[in-house]
This record gives sequence, C-alpha cells and structure tokens, in this order.
Amino acid sequence: MERRKFLGWVGVGVLASSLPVAIAACSSGTDESVADEPPTDGQATDESSSAVAQSPVREDGFQSFGTTEELDKKVTILDKKAGVLLVRNPENKQISAVNPKCPHQGCIVEWDAEEKYLNCPCHSSKFDATGDLLEGPATESLPTYETKEEGDLILVKLS
Ligand code: FES
Repeated sequence: MERRKFLGWVGVGVLASSLPVAIAACSSGTDESVADEPPTDGQATDESSSAVAQSPVREDGFQSFGTTEELDKKVTILDKKAGVLLVRNPENKQISAVNPKCPHQGCIVEWDAEEKYLNCPCHSSKFDATGDLLEGPATESLPTYETKEEGDLILVKLS
C-alpha cells in the first residue's frame, strides 16, 4: 500500500473513532434550566411530580397541575416542563405557583421543609413560600402565576 493511501486510511480511522467522544462532549451540557433539570424531590416522573396529568389550557387560560390532597402531602408539586412549582405555605395554607427557575443563574429552587423556605441549591438564594426574595445573591423574587382551586384541582394561569 502506498504511504499516501495508508495515511489517508489512518486519518479516517482516527476521525471515526473520535466522533462518539465529540458528540458526547457536545451533548453533556451544564445548563440548569427548567427543561433540563432532573426532578429534585425524588418523587417526580419525567416532567411532573404530580400523579395528576397536567390538563390542557382551558378557555379561561387555567390548567390543572395537581390536587390539593397531593399538595397537602408533598408541600410542593413541580412541573419542570411547564416551569411551575406549586407550594403550600405551611403557616397560612395558601397555595402559590411560582416559576422555580432561580433569577440568579437559573437553578431550580427546592423546598426546605425544616427552614420552610425555597432554597436555591446553587448559591443559596432563599425565597419564601410565595416566591418573594428573602436572601441573595439573587436580586429578584421568583415570578408567580395566578392560581385558584376548583374542587380538588389546583389551577394555574401561565399567561
Ligand atoms: Fe440561584 Fe445562584 S442560581 S442563587
């Protein structure tokens, strides 16, 4: 085999063997956005921690994200695809719906049952059960959504 042909085949072989590594490197992002973040409460399915499937948007703009019975048990219900975190305030029992994406750098906040606030696992920003900022480095509160209860369902209006 000629030297030039041999080197050509070696080059193709090196390229083919490194392709999977290059693809894997490109696909293992570190973005902590809502859509990419795995569930954090240990009870979640692929997209929602609620056993009740998210309903379609109704004519009035509301859709359900869980039941009050379920929220009473779990304190929070996360739907990471929709970017909705339902929180039952343990003190006044009010239900809030917040966007769980921390305004600092986008990590998903988690309910701290002991301290009774939403904590960002990345840099420890803290928010109360209604999403109001308690402590930075975040400088803004969590965005909130209008909620209401209808029977046992918790309805949220995203826009
Ligand atoms: Fe939440 Fe930094 S991403 S405090």
